[in-house]
Amino acid sequence: MTKERYLKVKNVLIMASGNGSNFEAIVKYFIDKGLKDRVCFELLTDKKDANVIKRAQKLGVPYFYVEFENLYDFLKNRKYDLYVLAGYMRILPEKILKLAAASDDTGEGYQNKFINIHPSLLPKFKGKDAIQRVHEAGVKKTGVTVHFVTKNVDSGKIITQKEIEIGKKTLTELEEAIHKIEHKIYPEVVENLLFKKNILLLGGGGREHVLARKLVKSPFLNQLYLAKPNDGFKDLGVTIDFPTTENIGADYQMLAKKAHALNIDLLIVGPENPLFDGIVDIFTKEGIKCIGADKKWARLEGSKSFAKIFMEKNGIKTADYKVLEDIASVLKSKAKIKEALEYFKTKGKIPPVIKADGAALGKGVHLPNTFEEAESEIESFLGGKFGDASKKIVLEERLFGREISIISLWDGNTLLSFPPALDYKRLLDNDKGANTGGMGAIAPSKISAKEKKQITEYLNTLKTALIKEKADFTGIIYSGLILTKDGVYVLEYNMRFGDPETQVLLELLDISRGVDLLDIFIKMSQKRLNEIDLKFKRKKAFCLVLASSGYPENPKKGSIIANLNSAKKYGCKIYFAGVKCTANTGLHTALNKLTLSAQEAQYNFTADSKTDLITNGGRVLNIVKSGVNSKKILDDIYKTAQDIDFDGKIYRKDIGYDKQNT
Ligand code: AMP
Ligand code: GLY
Repeated sequence: MTKERYLKVKNVLIMASGNGSNFEAIVKYFIDKGLKDRVCFELLTDKKDANVIKRAQKLGVPYFYVEFENLYDFLKNRKYDLYVLAGYMRILPEKILKLAAASDDTGEGYQNKFINIHPSLLPKFKGKDAIQRVHEAGVKKTGVTVHFVTKNVDSGKIITQKEIEIGKKTLTELEEAIHKIEHKIYPEVVENLLFKKNILLLGGGGREHVLARKLVKSPFLNQLYLAKPNDGFKDLGVTIDFPTTENIGADYQMLAKKAHALNIDLLIVGPENPLFDGIVDIFTKEGIKCIGADKKWARLEGSKSFAKIFMEKNGIKTADYKVLEDIASVLKSKAKIKEALEYFKTKGKIPPVIKADGAALGKGVHLPNTFEEAESEIESFLGGKFGDASKKIVLEERLFGREISIISLWDGNTLLSFPPALDYKRLLDNDKGANTGGMGAIAPSKISAKEKKQITEYLNTLKTALIKEKADFTGIIYSGLILTKDGVYVLEYNMRFGDPETQVLLELLDISRGVDLLDIFIKMSQKRLNEIDLKFKRKKAFCLVLASSGYPENPKKGSIIANLNSAKKYGCKIYFAGVKCTANTGLHTALNKLTLSAQEAQYNFTADSKTDLITNGGRVLNIVKSGVNSKKILDDIYKTAQDIDFDGKIYRKDIGYDKQNT
């Protein structure tokens, strides 16, 4: 089915009245990329003597001279895949603007097919002579915006935006700089809108729900496919079924084959286990690009000792440590355990942290209070408490300080980080109780100027280390940091987005300024992360996890979840994690059904009348809201949390309330 996507020739109408430099840039871009046979360009102009006509003749592009009065009839009678305004000097007639806003479902509308480029950072400096007005206004920054055309001039949804500093540029210099950017970004937007991407997202938690929701908003998405989604968000895409058997490698092979047949352009891996099992290596072999670390680099998360050696070799500060392995011999000669503990005694006199070397579902860390406790815990780790994961263990000096999570994107050359987030790891209020995957999150986490500097230095060191070690993968690096009195230390690495940190970080991404998650992933996969400028809303985002009693050990399942619509009342978003529908339907949350507006879809929690949504895991759902008034946001989140009802509902009452962070 999707093969046609590539074979079909796309028809593009470029509309211009003047010099036509954008027209030429677009056509040349497609010629240079060898895409000339896949796109059929035509030029429409309303000026008989426009220079753009000469350019069209030179490039062999057919052109039409259409008087403004006849424009509507001309457009009515022809069909294009994309309409590109490139210096068309007239304001389009009302009737066309109406079509530009109308849904494509009617067969007439041009919704999301009619684009314009404007030389300012919209919504600033709409209308004519923008560059000149920007220059006169004496602002520091300006840029270029590509947007969809709607009824109001220069007001449609922003597709992309690129900023530049004005500095001391004269008007002419500024014009040149702006045009240069236009010629760079416009052709690529045209390409991305003509050849939209098929994406496969793997994973079924709250993190994947928020990723899916941001991806379906992208104008560059053709189809989102989901592998193992939960029923709370599976309606956002097409589910690809694949079994999980004992032979996980073979399962991923099969998934890769299916993905190949469906022309999937990019795999995005949510959770860590598929990374440990080499899913990225398998998909890469199949010729499919991936967002996620390969098997080798997934070990930064999957093997504590691998991470320790990486840090030690590269001057990254981390707690002093000792590795204990070869269980049989260590256990036989308890002297080895005593000797390792003695090492810490002489240094800091504090019992060390005990960590299973392998992945243990976030539970493989123990913080003993006494050396006796440490000794018996080491024995139980090595004795098989976490199976293979604790055959080898790391003993680590205990550090004290505030923890923050820094999530970074990496493409082999560029490390691009989100603002710091805070994750509430413990089950109970005031950081008591068991370690969990995370009971809530906030971003940005407050840090002092000094801490900010230290974090930047750390990230530079990390980048240098990754380059030096030839970490040639495209994925996520999550640094679990602790801010101690001696500076920033790394507690752990994860090679995936944090859950629930992602729910708050993506909430802060500023889509209204043309920051598009899919565009970021595409550029990452092309090793062009250096071209991405992450822009964030100047807001605070909070996430509260509603969990099910018994979490993290043995959560209660099967309770009906009621009153989800309360979220709408309080303006909160819901992302689902451990949920299931009692019939095989999924909630109707889809944006791609077009019967719902994006706003409505956010809050449409109805399945069909015979279906209930029930709890099906430890962390059940996330309540997320952002804004400037922290107190109000938290009030709304907590009111929603009270209203949403299911048997066994548990949640922390102190998320966001610690003074340090709100
Ligand atoms: P990890 O899975 O390595 O992130 O450990 C889970 C949690 O244990 C961390 O978020 C910390 O709260 C705590 N922890 C881990 N290592 C240390 C350490 N060396 N010193 C103090 N706390 C630690
Ligand atoms: N919230 C912590 C994690 O994702 O590992």
